[in-house]
This record gives sequence, structure tokens and C-alpha cells, in this order.
Amino acid sequence: MSDRIGRIFLVTGNSNKLLEVRSILGPYGIRVEPARVEKVEVQGDIELVSRVAAVIASSELLEPVVVDDSGLYVEVLNGFPGPYSSYAYEKLGNSGLLKLMEGQKDRRATFRCAVTYADALSREIKAFAGEVEGFIRLRPGKENGFGFDPIFSVEGPEGKPFSELSVEEKDRVSHR
Ligand code: IMP
Repeated sequence: MSDRIGRIFLVTGNSNKLLEVRSILGPYGIRVEPARVEKVEVQGDIELVSRVAAVIASSELLEPVVVDDSGLYVEVLNGFPGPYSSYAYEKLGNSGLLKLMEGQKDRRATFRCAVTYADALSREIKAFAGEVEGFIRLRPGKENGFGFDPIFSVEGPEGKPFSELSVEEKDRVSHR
């Protein structure tokens, strides 16, 4: 990776994501700043979305950037919402997703994360993937964290949700 790796820009409008990525990369001496550019979102799987957004953002900023594109893949819904997670969250929210899961015994779900590091100046592009298997809870936990955090648990349908973990605890197990 580039020598300019001491500082990277995270392309996101999500301040919780920024907190988590800072907490993950901080111990490696990497300073993470929010990138003041739009995340361009093409339609496709999370790997493509992440790659295209990172390449465009780095070409605009002329700085190394990181883009994290994540999705929640629910087993019994054939992987829905997956790459459409933002849209599903916006339109259905956690209560809507829980409604879709009403009466379902199989609560298995996986959070997947596609991270791209792109540096337009050195022409480096690196892709990373992470995932965590867990469950859609039977009912929402505390409103904390962001997105699907209140309804996702690695412990089981009644286990502690991501929203009730500290940033450090979530970072230890999460897809990110
Ligand atoms: P994106 O990566 O920001 O496009 O995320 C897609 C959707 O998944 C958004 O609605 C996010 O809020 C949600 N999401 C992504 N990562 C997480 C997470 O770590 N916890 C809960 N929801 C998440």
C-alpha cells in the first residue's frame, strides 16, 4: 500500500461507521478522516458498489480512500435485502423486516462487508471482505448503534443485539 497510508479518507455519510472504522484502524496508526465527496452508488453486488465508489472518490480527491459497502443477507428470504439493504432499511425499517420474518423459525442471517482501498495517484486498488453469521432477533433491542444493529445478534434470536454492544465489542466480531 501507499506510503501515504498514515491517513486515509472514508467515503461515508454514516458517522457510526466512521467511529467503527476509526476504532478498527486506530491501533495500526492509521488516521481516518471523513471524505468530503459523494459516495457514488451503482447498482450491483456490494463488491462492485464498493469498488466503483472508491475509484471515483479517490480520483476526485486525489487521496487514498476506503469505501465500506455492507449488506444484511437473511437466509429464509433468499439473501434479501443483501445489496438492497440501504433501500430496504429506508423503506421498511427494522420493524418492517421483523414483520417479514413473523412466524419464521429459521432466523439465520449474515452481515457481509466489502471494503475497497483505492489510491488514484499510485493506481492501487485493494479489495477486502468480511462477514459475520448471526440471527434476526425476535424483537428489537435498544435503539443504539445504527441500521439493523437492534435486530441482529450473533448469539441467537434472543441474544444480545449489536446495538447493545460497545463499539469495541462489536468490532471484535462484526463483518467490518
Ligand atoms: P451501507 O454499507 O452503508 O450501504 O449499508 C447498507 C445498509 O445496511 C444500511 O441501511 C446500513 O444502515 C446497514 N448496515 C451496514 N452496516 C451495518 C452494521 O454494522 N450494523 C447495522 N446495520 C448496518
